[in-house]
Amino acid sequence: MIALFDSGIGGLTVLKPLLKELPEYDYLYLGDSARSPYGGRSEESIKKFSEEAVEFLFDRGVKVILFACNTASSVALRHVQQKYLKGADEKDRKILGVLIPVAEEAAEKSKKGRVGVVGTKATIASNSYETEIQKINPEISTYGQACPLLVPFIEEGWHTKPEAASILKKYLRPLKTCNIDSLILGCTHYPMMQKQFERYMGKQVKVLDPGSTVAKKLKTYLERHPEIESLISKSAKPKRQFLTTDDPATFKRFAESYLSMKISKVEKVTL
Ligand code: DGL
Repeated sequence: MIALFDSGIGGLTVLKPLLKELPEYDYLYLGDSARSPYGGRSEESIKKFSEEAVEFLFDRGVKVILFACNTASSVALRHVQQKYLKGADEKDRKILGVLIPVAEEAAEKSKKGRVGVVGTKATIASNSYETEIQKINPEISTYGQACPLLVPFIEEGWHTKPEAASILKKYLRPLKTCNIDSLILGCTHYPMMQKQFERYMGKQVKVLDPGSTVAKKLKTYLERHPEIESLISKSAKPKRQFLTTDDPATFKRFAESYLSMKISKVEKVTL
């Protein structure tokens, strides 16, 4: 089983391409919607919430966790890897994130070496994308922009409203002057507004969606690492489990519509 963890519904933008690219595996999705958004919270809180999610998932017997959340990947991934994967546990369990695959993709695809990054306050303040991209290619300049109001709009299902578009325009205005060739959607909620991002940035800017990148890279990663592949269960009728810390009916409605699939049950859990 592969467990995806996000602060809320954003990680569904990673689950959707994974279900297409790697449908044979069992998946468990955990959204901490009761405490979403994470992006404006302190490093301490993001680390604490991430620890609670990891402990919860390991207690359920999950062996491979993917942080389908840029905020948790940027602020807490290294911390939880160090805390929970020490010594003997290391080869039996894995905690992966979305940050490195997306940074690699951006560095590989950038034509002019000017990359924009949009994300939550915590992700942008961490400079995580800049750091990872610099490791791959120090010639690339990155330009970050926090867009803190977008996640609450998306969680409320308000992201297609004109109010969301006008806030988005305001956020993107400074990036329009930076002559970027690509824009990383550095928050897994944002692909739900991909069209609006593309419309406002124009044809000359490639808007990079983290979900499809992560799905493609995870596929090749598992091919290269059969020892991890063996930690993930497959079955003739693969399981899809959905867990939320908030109202299951609200989560179910959104997830069924976004993933275009019937979900028999959404379990309410406490972390
Ligand atoms: N979807 C998340 C991310 O990728 C978290 C957003 C939030 O909770 O603020 O950053």
